[in-house]
Amino acid sequence: MNKLFFFSLGLSAVLFASCGNNKPATAPNSPAAVDSLVPEIPPTSAFIDTLDGKPTTLYVLINKNHNAEAAITNYGARVVSLLVPDKTGSLTDVVLGYDSIGKYIHQPDTYFGAIVGRYGNRIAKGHFRLDGKEYTLATNDGHNHLHGGKKGFDAVVWTGKQINDQTLELTYLSKDGEEGYPGNLQVKVTYTLTDSNALQISYEATTDKPTVLNLTNHSYFNLNGQGSGTINNHLLRIYADHYTPVDSTLIPTGKIQPVAGTPLDFLQTTAIGARINDSSIQLKYGKGYDHNFVLSPAPDDTTRPDGLASAATVIGDQSGIVLNVYTNQPGIQFYGGNFLTGTNPLKNGKKDNYRSAFCLETQHFPDSPNEPSFPSVELKPGQTYKSTTIYQFSVKK
Ligand code: BGC
Repeated sequence: MNKLFFFSLGLSAVLFASCGNNKPATAPNSPAAVDSLVPEIPPTSAFIDTLDGKPTTLYVLINKNHNAEAAITNYGARVVSLLVPDKTGSLTDVVLGYDSIGKYIHQPDTYFGAIVGRYGNRIAKGHFRLDGKEYTLATNDGHNHLHGGKKGFDAVVWTGKQINDQTLELTYLSKDGEEGYPGNLQVKVTYTLTDSNALQISYEATTDKPTVLNLTNHSYFNLNGQGSGTINNHLLRIYADHYTPVDSTLIPTGKIQPVAGTPLDFLQTTAIGARINDSSIQLKYGKGYDHNFVLSPAPDDTTRPDGLASAATVIGDQSGIVLNVYTNQPGIQFYGGNFLTGTNPLKNGKKDNYRSAFCLETQHFPDSPNEPSFPSVELKPGQTYKSTTIYQFSVKK
């Protein structure tokens, strides 16, 4: 399928001035010549394995305009590669990922590209009460529960069903008691790569007992291309005038505070690194940016027909690639890659250096099961959980 895709790119590749791997563009006269111009996605064969008795593989989505491509594995429902055009038209792989299933299995802690759950982000001390009952979850982040526990949705094999070239459905049944959570939870995640270069992620879930739920995607973006250096010169806007301050273990204090006057004020477009060395206790606790922003409608936001609101906009300083994030969720975690250490071998020989990627995780607020004043994360039998995130790509010349 890749070869077909690259072949179909032949015509547009003629126009490319440069390319994602910095090779000069030459007019291709064969599919092979085009192949060498674009950053390659890993071969599907590198993702064929069997885990927990279930087969793993790699699915490839290509949009109808043939100018964007995504590779997604059913191991953790992870986005492995996401190729979009930069300001010169060259395809750029904007997400961190590995080139084989083995590397995902052996380096699980970064959650590269994964769907995280049942509860994305932290639950204090792995405890919560629901309908008068106490639940104890697996703890995997000091004394706290993070991203679903020791074996969250990022580390299980989902059942994949490719609907067409643009759409992949992934389903997973999380059994009653898994990682300590109540209820058999049936989850469906649908990835769609649209004509307008958006990766749309739709989540649906139902349960047979009351449970708590907070699903998100943990892609690490570098809009100049994965492994291409710091994200601190990327420009960021977050459509939030409040945030949830945290303690030293990154558990919210329960307060909702204004961003005004703090380095978390991204209401005006600002370089990510402009205030990164500020003496704010919040940046100290997060070792940089690692905070939940309370989304507020932007004054210049136009009402979208799908009812989603603008959450954030990021611009790659070198590539001109613009990422707009839309969601129907109340919050977004902006994480600046503070725990990346350059020790993980990325695709195409690149490294995951310190602060060389950011995550924008649409979500309910961290530790909501223990904070009655935060929007509820309870899912009851008979209800359907629905969440949508759009990562929309375009270019600024
Ligand atoms: C969290 C970080 C955590 C990271 C793990 C993010 O969602 O906010 O605190 O270190 O995930 O990769």
